[in-house]
Amino acid sequence: MKIIITENYQELSARANEIMRKLLIEKPNAVLGLATGSSPVGLYKNMIADYEKGITDYSRISTVNLDEYVGLPETHDQSYRYFMNDNLFLHVNVDMDKTAVPCGNTSDPAKECERYTDYLKTHRQDVQVLGLGGNGHIGFNEPGTPFDSHTHIVELKENTRRDNARFFPSLDNVPTHAITMGIADIMEAKSILLVASGTNKADAVYAMVKGAVDENCPASILQRHENVTVILDKAAASKL
Ligand code: F6R
Repeated sequence: MKIIITENYQELSARANEIMRKLLIEKPNAVLGLATGSSPVGLYKNMIADYEKGITDYSRISTVNLDEYVGLPETHDQSYRYFMNDNLFLHVNVDMDKTAVPCGNTSDPAKECERYTDYLKTHRQDVQVLGLGGNGHIGFNEPGTPFDSHTHIVELKENTRRDNARFFPSLDNVPTHAITMGIADIMEAKSILLVASGTNKADAVYAMVKGAVDENCPASILQRHENVTVILDKAAASKL
């Protein structure tokens, strides 16, 4: 694991973008594994800025996203497809047909999981961007998820639903399930770029880097991947 500690979120995002820029220039048809959440937003802003300056081109890339809520249409402003369109895709020249987010708006989520697992077999990520949950989760793979899991349905924990209720009209509107890439799918990526900031991530960062490789901390499996870069701000690195 290569660990880079930065002064703040701005520097973290710029360093993450340097890695992304290098990949995009070296391999214009790269497959990018992408994440939602607040952690990669600064990276995406830098990627858009590079595109606007003519430094990077997205016309030949493909993307695969980590996860999606079950039951939300793509047009719902809390769906992860909406997030990706809003924070990256609509601002660069990516071919939308080559952007993949699990489809949560389906009557058969189990079939969608099989389809997505198969899709990933032919779209191996050159880089997989990850955020880190305060409990060590990656994607929606919560503590206890088997390390050999592929894309699967997750029942959201009550506290996760309550945390997210502020984005919905009421708790009843918060999805009960999500589809997530599994840990085995994440580990197939040729390289991993994990970004984490803030003191609320410090314990999880410690467990991921220094703890035992254990399913109770899903991110600890990254110790066994041969090409991982972790970019932290000082606060997230404070317990290392
Ligand atoms: C996002 C995802 C999650 C987040 C994690 C951190 O697609 O799968 O694992 O990366 O929950 O979220 P933030 O970045 O909002 O702190």
